[in-house]
Amino acid sequence: MNEGAVHSTRWGISREQALRLMEEFLESESMRKHSLASEAIMQALAGRLGADSEMWGLVGLLHDLDYNETKDKMDQHAVLTEQILIERGVDREIANAIKYHNAENLGLVRQAPIHFGLTAAETITGMITATALVYPDKKVCSVVPKSVKKRMKQKEFARSVNRDHIMLCEQIGMSLDDFIATSLEAMCGISDRLGL
Ligand SMILES: [Fe+2]
Repeated sequence: MNEGAVHSTRWGISREQALRLMEEFLESESMRKHSLASEAIMQALAGRLGADSEMWGLVGLLHDLDYNETKDKMDQHAVLTEQILIERGVDREIANAIKYHNAENLGLVRQAPIHFGLTAAETITGMITATALVYPDKKVCSVVPKSVKKRMKQKEFARSVNRDHIMLCEQIGMSLDDFIATSLEAMCGISDRLGL
């Protein structure tokens, strides 16, 4: 993340405000870590694609804001987030992009790179975390890409992680190998915060 992005409010919210907002809504440490990991991967993807890394980062950081309220009503997931973000004056493009990680339940069809990127990024956080936890040192920075790929092929491993969603990386022109390596590097970069 560059320094300018920290204080920028180009999107109606600074990164610091977004972090506080996320923590206000998500008390669970695991959801906070998931949000931060999603942010880090989204920034890395934006860097690779020449997209707006501030915007992509905010979308990753805020994508599960309403999780506590909607975990049992998935047809509301990300819709409630949109309302919250509009109330807080956040650019509508942020909330709009966020809705697409729940496209299946909302009757939406992913089209833009950020729709595919967010869905793949927020999903691979689970696969990487689960893979790190079976490493002897449980450190994300120790994980090699081929371990993640191997675990993805094992249906019973982290079975709730949607493999099809991870494969959406191909829709933004990245091979699975490249996407895994990029995501690992991004999560390793914030390993202290992730406690991994
Ligand atoms: Fe998520």
